[in-house]
Amino acid sequence: MMKLLCGGTLILTLALSYYVYMPLPATVSEPWKLMLVGATFRTATHLADVSHSLGLAHHIRVLSLVVTSFERLVPAEFEDIQMEDTEFDGVQVRVYMPQHRDGTLRPAVVFIHGGGWALGVPKLGSYDVLCRKMAVKLNAVVVTVDYRMAPDVRFPVQYEECVQAARHFLQRDVLARYSVDPDRVAVCGDSAGGNLAAAVAQRIAQDSRGDGDVRDSSSDNVKSNSKDDDARNSIGDGGVKFKLQVLIYPVLQPLDFNTASYQQNRGVPILYRDLMARYWLEYLGADADLLHTILLNNHTALDEARANPHRSKVDWTLMIPEHMRKQYTAIFPQTGSPSVLQDVPAMLDPRAAPLLAEQEILQTAPSAYIMTCEHDVLRDDGMMYVHRLEHAAVSVTHRHYEDCFHGCVSFAFWPSYFSVGIRAIDDYIAWLHTHL
Ligand SMILES: *[C@@H]1O[C@H](CO)[C@@H](O)[C@H](O)[C@H]1NC(C)=O
Repeated sequence: MMKLLCGGTLILTLALSYYVYMPLPATVSEPWKLMLVGATFRTATHLADVSHSLGLAHHIRVLSLVVTSFERLVPAEFEDIQMEDTEFDGVQVRVYMPQHRDGTLRPAVVFIHGGGWALGVPKLGSYDVLCRKMAVKLNAVVVTVDYRMAPDVRFPVQYEECVQAARHFLQRDVLARYSVDPDRVAVCGDSAGGNLAAAVAQRIAQDSRGDGDVRDSSSDNVKSNSKDDDARNSIGDGGVKFKLQVLIYPVLQPLDFNTASYQQNRGVPILYRDLMARYWLEYLGADADLLHTILLNNHTALDEARANPHRSKVDWTLMIPEHMRKQYTAIFPQTGSPSVLQDVPAMLDPRAAPLLAEQEILQTAPSAYIMTCEHDVLRDDGMMYVHRLEHAAVSVTHRHYEDCFHGCVSFAFWPSYFSVGIRAIDDYIAWLHTHL
């Protein structure tokens, strides 16, 4: 009996370590901890996929439950801050307001959380603590946008809700009500929130120039969005724009799933390459079966003329330094699946993929702080945006972390505390402190 028990335990232990163990790059921060987080995440993803295929629940809803339970474990911090849950032009937001001692105006940050346009709980756990921390450390009003997500809504709803909330907040009378200095407002987001923050920053920059037509005329692939333009004319005309944008490992393009960083980090937790591609398909409301097609870059194969005007904007072989490209080469098949870009035109829409914006749009964008991680499939998305913004004469501070993995900013709190996450947060807050 004892023998049997020992044998069973041994097999279970072996199975468990096989499941948990994955080879990780030697330079990544706290690899064993990351392995555990990665295994937890993979288990949750498998559970979600099984429930999905059994028809029990959409896989995102299962993951969402897991994320929410996880966030409930994060202890509260900076609790003495005043806050208000309200709506900005119909969009749910939470406003954090630090102690206001004198009559002076304060800076503000509009924060857009990540989670693949599908997950993330802005009012709970790590994002809540992060916003409180920003508010306290910067003595700033922080607005966190609780936009609706997939699978309930798809592109462009997430984008539009973030634009609506930002436009509402940037009205002079609204800023005055919160004692915010109109010249000191930043937009900030991580991952998919970085995608939305970059797109919102581009849109608001156009608003404040009273110039909504540049984008529509510059790309024949983008349908003119009349709702967008109507809204611009009716609100947010005070000319207030963002002073700064902070993009934390942003996701910026769905045209190349074989950039050097996608190739290098395809299996690094927590954002695996196929997972990122799946979230793109979910966001854009595309058929999930397209996964293998887009992972091959079949949708942007060389015979796909729709991609031609955008190829140079995602050409990482020219935008990434050689020591980061390493041995990796571009992967574009000669012939592919042209129906994809026809069926999913949003893949070419700069509102979904801010890296695809034309140069004259980028020129109007606010000064940027862009954070990238070496062990992240999205490293090159961020690096290319740094390159393109600099080329458009926008001032960019680029912080690259050699030991960082995607999502570290959300793992800077108990029970999954990574020192690199804390460092990344403190660094961007310090930059905002100096520049906002
Ligand atoms: C990719 O494109 C090639 C050429 O059209 C085609 O034969 C192949 O089936 C496609 N693969 C996928 C997974 O879509």
